[in-house]
Order: sequence, then structure tokens, then C-alpha cells
Amino acid sequence: MEESLVPSLKNTFSYDFFIGAAINGGAINGSDTLALDLIRREFNSITPENIMKWEHIHPFPDKFNFEMPDKYVRLGQKNNMHIVGHTLVWHSQLAEWVAQVNDSASMAGLLTEHITKIVGRYKGKIDSWDVVNEALNEDGSLRESIFKEVLGDHYLELAFRTAAKADPEAQLVYNDYNLTHPEKREGAIRLVKNLQENGVKIDAIGMQGHWNLERPTLEEIETSILAYHKAGVKVLITELDITVLPNPWELEGAEVSQNFEGNKFMNPYPESLPDSVQNQLAERYADIFSLFAKHRDKIDRVTFWGINDGASWLNGWPIKGRTNYPLLFDRNYRPKKAYESIMKLKK
Ligand code: XIL
Repeated sequence: MEESLVPSLKNTFSYDFFIGAAINGGAINGSDTLALDLIRREFNSITPENIMKWEHIHPFPDKFNFEMPDKYVRLGQKNNMHIVGHTLVWHSQLAEWVAQVNDSASMAGLLTEHITKIVGRYKGKIDSWDVVNEALNEDGSLRESIFKEVLGDHYLELAFRTAAKADPEAQLVYNDYNLTHPEKREGAIRLVKNLQENGVKIDAIGMQGHWNLERPTLEEIETSILAYHKAGVKVLITELDITVLPNPWELEGAEVSQNFEGNKFMNPYPESLPDSVQNQLAERYADIFSLFAKHRDKIDRVTFWGINDGASWLNGWPIKGRTNYPLLFDRNYRPKKAYESIMKLKK
């Protein structure tokens, strides 16, 4: 069968948006052949789950690790994919040495070097960059990161300007979680406006999309899509997964540092997912995707945070050692009911 006719996520939504997946070492170096098969068949965009984060790509002042990122980019090119870079500026998974820099001139210099080197190396190859990740607090104010502390609020401007200079064609993204919450949404819009008013290029808002079976509501998601569109940027769903497990933060008085590991109420489906929850997940995915399809003119890409349930980060976060079922493919790399429910939307 001709490639474009094979039933797959990417072909089903080819007129709507890119369908992406975050991928890891095993897929990049070819050892995880089942994952690689799925990536090639189902997806037309990839994001590196960890290998381009600061601590991996730039672990010491004079050391850049480009071997895996180069392979990652080649994989995307070979398969004609929309290639994403994740992420240039983030307080988490940051190399330790960066925290020791405490004067603003040195920090500006090293941020500029970091971005220029990496974006420049993949100029014309990486199509979309998560330039700054998670810079906002829940109330919409700027988070006290090392970058803000040493450089002040304008570190965002510096980051986006530098990225635009290193590759004027790349799509530049501000990426964060909980961007459907009203206060944080307002904060993100202020952030966008502020860059725009200073003549700095920003092309899209990445809504991570670490969601659950009930929240955010479809209405909250839609309001947010419309609000970002109105601010003049594209909307991307960059890290979609839907947890089916209880959330420790919702327990009254729950303190996450408390040890929930091994607590069976927190890990209710260690063997398999009951049909009732499987169906709920399928319905939730179908609802979300019909909303995305409705706003295809505003949404450029929908990326899942992983390929199959077995490899999802949600088995280890926010509580280690659980069995979660957040993606479209099961632990045997087979499509779940949620996959069918999305594919059916277009029949
Ligand atoms: C996660 C990865 O999936 C894990 O493997 C890693 O241990 C921690 O980071 N928001 C982001 C992603 O922007 O980079 C995070 O990825 C998930 C939350």
C-alpha cells in the first residue's frame, strides 16, 4: 500500500496538524526496534525526551555532547519528520555548573553561547525549538529560576532573540504546563505580549498537556486555545499524556515528599487496566482530539510524551514504581482502545 494510504495517526490527521512523539535513546540508536517501527508508521514529528536538556548536551562549560542529538536529527531527516528541539532554557535538568555563575555578564554570555551553538548546529534541520521551558509560577508571575535571579526578567528576551538570530526560520516556542489555568494563562499571554512589544520573535505557545481523565475540562482547553490564538501565536500540544492514577496532590493535606511508594491505593492497576477505565480513557482522548481537530487552523502540532505505556515517565512520577496507562500504545506496543477512538473520529 502506498505510504500515504496506510491507516495511521499521521495520515489520519495529515490535514490537521503534525502528530509527534517524545523519543529516547533506544529509539534513536535503533535498539528499541518496536518503538522505531511505531515512530515511523504513526508519527511525523519527534521530540527528544531528555538528550538535548542542558545537563546532557552541555554538562561542563567546555563540553557539548552532540553525538546523540546528531543521531536524533538524522533519524528525523531520514524519515522526513518535523523535528523538535527540547529545550534550551529550563531550571530543571540543568548542568550543575550553571548554578555557580552569579554575575549577569557571565550568565548572559553563557546563555548566548549555549543557544547559539546548539541552535546554530541544527539550523535548517530542527524545525521548532522549545526556547524557554516552565518560566511561570502558578499565579502567572515569573518563576525564581537561576536565570531570573542572575539576569533579571529580560533573560526571556535574550533567549528568544539569540535563538532567532541563530536560526531565523525555526519556530520559537514558549512551553509550560497548566497553561489552561486562568492565572497562568494570563501570565503566558503577558509573556508573549511583552516579547512582541519588544520586537522579539515568538511563534507559538506549547501547552504541555499532562492531563487526567477529568481535568482540564474541554471548555478550559478550548478557552486557552482561543486566548493564545488571539495573542497572535500558534498553539502546540507538546507533551500530551493522560494519567489514570490517583494524584497525591489532591489528597487533603497530602505532602508529596511523604512516601507513597508501595502504597496500593496509589497504584490501583498494577496488572492491567479495567475495561471501564480503558473506555473512559478512550472517550477522553476522543473528546480532546475532536476539540483539537475543530481548531486545526490554530494548532500546528500534537505531540505525545512517549510512545507506549511501559516507557512513560508517569510510571515514575510523581510517585515511583507505579503502573500507569497514559498513552495510545500498550506495554506490548499494541494500539489501545484510545488509539481506535481517535482514528474513528475521521471515519
Ligand atoms: C521528563 C522526562 O520524561 C523524564 O524522563 C525525565 O526524568 C524528567 O523529565 N515537562 C517537560 C519534560 O518539559 O521535559 C519532562 O520530561 C516532563 C515535564
